[in-house]
Amino acid sequence: MANIHIAKEHSAWVQLTAHFILEAAKNTLDEQDRFVLALSGGSTPRPVYQALPELWKQQALDWRRVHILWSDERCVPLNHPESNYRMAQEALLDEIDIPGDQIHPMLCNQDPARSAVEYEAILREFFPSHDWPRIDLILLGLGTDGHTASLFPDTPALSERSRWVVENESPSLDIARLTLTLPAINAAKSVAFLVAGSGKADVVDKIFSKSGQPPALPAAAIKPTNGELHWLLDGGAAQRINDH
Ligand code: 6PG
Repeated sequence: MANIHIAKEHSAWVQLTAHFILEAAKNTLDEQDRFVLALSGGSTPRPVYQALPELWKQQALDWRRVHILWSDERCVPLNHPESNYRMAQEALLDEIDIPGDQIHPMLCNQDPARSAVEYEAILREFFPSHDWPRIDLILLGLGTDGHTASLFPDTPALSERSRWVVENESPSLDIARLTLTLPAINAAKSVAFLVAGSGKADVVDKIFSKSGQPPALPAAAIKPTNGELHWLLDGGAAQRINDH
């Protein structure tokens, strides 16, 4: 069952989402020695990442107990304008005292297939005795075509059922991608979609539509097998689900 959190105004949504992440970190660190967070890419999360350092300081949380992964990445250099790592570095990582060796960018060089294998090896070091990575919180975005991470409709990555990380093609930017696979995402303790703006209202409506089977959209396949699913929506993105 999905937990839906809606904040009408975008600024309130930024605070709601930043506090949600903070709460997840606090609850996790009350129970275990580390908090493993996978960041989403795209543009939506930027203001949330920017809000985190100050809130984190207020809660006196210790970034030295946090490990940062990515849900997906574009196969570009880390300082490329399209890099998800670069966005997070500018908005968050440069503002906090997290040990550099606890930040694990998805390095994607000229050989995406090899890069995917290498990132999976990093995850397997985190979760050595697991069949699937048990990430504490995975942040995801939502594309207007229903994609999430770099799991685009009708692409090979969608049918992967044994690997944790794969390479995939990206219909829009025609830049190769790396992405966590559906089963790897669904193995998480908690998954949170961060969706804002009226441009996403239609695709959110499709995913939440009660009529018949949910559409075969990648984002609709995110159903944590033993974890929580959260949707953090602003008023623009949520405007049509209230019709149900
Ligand atoms: C990426 C993302 C992707 C993104 C959605 C939404 O690398 O692009 O991981 O899944 O979250 O496309 O992007 P916006 O937030 O820019 O709308």
